[in-house]
Formats: sequence, C-alpha cells, structure tokens
Amino acid sequence: MKFFADTADTADIKELAETGLLDGVTTNPSLIAKSGRDFMEVTKEICGLTGGPVSAEVVALDHETMMKEAEVLRKIADNVCIKVPLTIDGLKTCKALTSEGTMVNVTLCFSANQALLAAKAGATFVSPFVGRHDDNGTDGMDLIRDIRLIYDNYLFDTEILVASVRHATHVLESARIGADVATMPPKVIKALANHVLTDKGIEGFMADWAKTGQTILK
Ligand code: G3P
Repeated sequence: MKFFADTADTADIKELAETGLLDGVTTNPSLIAKSGRDFMEVTKEICGLTGGPVSAEVVALDHETMMKEAEVLRKIADNVCIKVPLTIDGLKTCKALTSEGTMVNVTLCFSANQALLAAKAGATFVSPFVGRHDDNGTDGMDLIRDIRLIYDNYLFDTEILVASVRHATHVLESARIGADVATMPPKVIKALANHVLTDKGIEGFMADWAKTGQTILK
C-alpha cells in the first residue's frame, strides 16, 4: 500500500521523505491555509521533496474555471496531481484532464456511487473520507469495502486513496481491504512504527548487551 502525507508542512514532508517510506503528498485548501504559505510556492517546494504525486486542489466550482486553474497548477511540476471535488463539474473536469494525460484525484467522496462516477470519469485516484464518516456516526471502512468490491468487479484502474485518516486502525483496515493508498497526517505515519513490545524488546537487548562490556565499533 502506498503512503501519502496529508499535509502542506514542508518540514514534516522532508523528514518523512528522508525515511524512504513516503510515496506522495496530498494537500487541500484547509491544509494550505494552515501552512500560512503561498499556494504556488509551497506546492512547488513539496513537488521537489517527493518524486510521487502531489495533489493540489482547485477552488473553483464550475467546470470552465476549474480547467483554467488546472492549467496553472499542472505547470508547477510534472508530479502535480489535480484535485477536484466530487461534483458533476468536478467529474467533467476529471474526464477532460485525464483524457489529456493529467493525473486527477477526485476528492470529498462519501458514497460508493460517487466513487463509481469518479472511476467512469477516468480518475487516477478517488479520495473517500473515512474519518468524517466516522464523525458522522457511519463506518468509513464500509465505504472502502464497497468501493474495493465495485472497482474489482469492473476492473477499474482508479486507485482508492483513503483520506481523512485519523489513526493507525484506519490504515490497518485499509490495508486488509486492499486499498491502494492511504493519505495521513505525518503523526499517524510515524505512529505506525510504534509498538510497546518493540520498545520493551530493545530495552531487554540493550540491558543484556551492556552486561557483555563489548562494542561493535572499535
Ligand atoms: O485529505 C483530506 C483530509 O485532509 C481531511 O481530513 O481529518 O480534516 O477529515 P480531516
């Protein structure tokens, strides 16, 4: 499963990229606002920190203006992926851009029928929001299960990019279902490595090793 960082914080992205575990980045207008940075500038910087897709979201709501914004965004770097909302205008824009070979991430997906439309529009990625589903009292992972079933039924190429990931269990369940990508806040990616028994094991090994009085490096 590919790991994307869901942030516009370039320091966090740089740190994750150095681990070799980062496959891409997703941003959205809220994350750009949170960064306090200029949209074009920070997107260009992020595109230089990872070789993977970097999702940059249009803010227009009509197809024509979305296309104009996409024209500007895709000139930032070759690994820019245009993010559009799951609306009829967003789907029209997705179809037009993907038929020109541009990567498109269709975002704000909350139903399997919406995901079906995104696949039919040729989306590179669809972003179902699991955390916001949970916030709403419905199980976000049920949505991922449905999308996986439908996409496999029709052999759609669109990749399932699980978004609004809040904790490690979202990642585990997404992997069990066979989602293609999970995008998550940097702290969630780092938390995946945590396990109390690993810490305990290291402690035990270090204590036993200390008793030997040896060193590996002379
Ligand atoms: O990629 C979408 C994500 O940023 C939304 O996450 O936690 O605001 O639901 P959240």
